[in-house]
Amino acid sequence: MSETKKEELMTTSSSFVDGTKGELIYRGYDIRDIGPNATFEEIIYLLWNDKLPNAHELSLLKVALESKRALPDLLLNVMRGFPWDAHPMAVLRTATSALGLLDRNADNITIDGAREKALLLTAVIPTMVAAWERLRNGHDPIAPRAGLGHAANFLYMLNGEEPNPDAVAALDSYLVLLADHGFNASTFSARVTTSTGADVYSAIVSAMGTLKGPAHGGATQRAMEQFIDAAQHGDVAQWFTEARAAGKRIMGIGHRIYKVEDPRARILRPLAEKLANSSGTSEWFGIARDIEGLARQDEYFIERDLYANVDYYSAVVLYTIGLPVDQFTCTFAMSRIAGWCSQVLEQLADNRLIRPKEGYVGKRDQVFVPLAER
Ligand SMILES: CC(C)(COP(=O)(O)OP(=O)(O)OC[C@H]1O[C@@H](n2cnc3c(N)ncnc32)[C@H](O)[C@@H]1OP(=O)(O)O)[C@@H](O)C(=O)NCCC(=O)NCCS
Repeated sequence: MSETKKEELMTTSSSFVDGTKGELIYRGYDIRDIGPNATFEEIIYLLWNDKLPNAHELSLLKVALESKRALPDLLLNVMRGFPWDAHPMAVLRTATSALGLLDRNADNITIDGAREKALLLTAVIPTMVAAWERLRNGHDPIAPRAGLGHAANFLYMLNGEEPNPDAVAALDSYLVLLADHGFNASTFSARVTTSTGADVYSAIVSAMGTLKGPAHGGATQRAMEQFIDAAQHGDVAQWFTEARAAGKRIMGIGHRIYKVEDPRARILRPLAEKLANSSGTSEWFGIARDIEGLARQDEYFIERDLYANVDYYSAVVLYTIGLPVDQFTCTFAMSRIAGWCSQVLEQLADNRLIRPKEGYVGKRDQVFVPLAER
């Protein structure tokens, strides 16, 4: 590719979003095929290796992840000093940065070095999230348990009980569906940081800071808060009318790229419904479905092509499996770390500083006036 073309077009082989067709592809596989069938560990392997694993390759990856799940004592001690009311996403971002500080080999950004960091970060993020949930509630963290998959082990570390199989399956599907998404804002942040030659921890901390915002990963928490608000109101239709009249955005609806239904929402909707029925808590799915129905009948949403996005039914899934709402963005990070690392590795393989072309819209030809004369 010519230098000019390179300047204009950033490429990736990791994932692709077609917002007009409502398609999402992971390394050539349509999310509609792979989403309901693969496990999160298979997706990690696929994204990092450009092929699906065979049984042996998958079991090696699982063993490698298991071996890296435990948190260093030093890091746990640092976390014990965090303010108890800190937002979990701020905790995760800070703990990830501290993990990088403690890694004496953090600056190894050879492909092999970066793959090691990718494995460590993917393995350890659920442990950090679960440990903080325990610590802030006055409990000791629970050590990871060998033999449990990624999703099951996370739920086990939250409460020390054998995880419910329906909850494990729903969380695993959620992790699969959010793993990568083209040049979404957080992945782009990770790539920009990587392009400067900075270490992998720095890239992931950049990505986490970007994910935190309500226009990106923070939308899942906001979506659930709005469902709770609608439930407290008591009349969902009236709540919707009032929210619209107040000019509020309906969280979990609308997308920068998708102008048709988000394919991940289409997979998550029946999954959320199934989980709601099996857990006996169908209230939240009912409210979400009702608000979505109201939006789909509203000219404002129809004219602007605003559909439920992935965060909308993710909120119902995560809440139904018992996660606190302020942990939702961290759960998103537990999944997106796979895509962040995939694209960090891709960036490192052919690294060049990313700097967008500037459209200068400021003044020119200003005449400098010394301070005393202003
Ligand atoms: C995701 C999002 C930021 C994309 O926004 P965008 O591509 O920048 O589009 P805009 O913010 O310019 O919105 C386009 C129009 O739709 C409206 N709109 C977008 N999302 C809306 C929502 N959730 N509720 C109500 N109106 C919405 C905007 O007000 C705007 O209307 P206008 O043309 O009259 O000014 C936006 O849809 C949003 O804020 N959604 C809620 C948050 C969310 O779910 N984020 C997660 C995304 S995965």
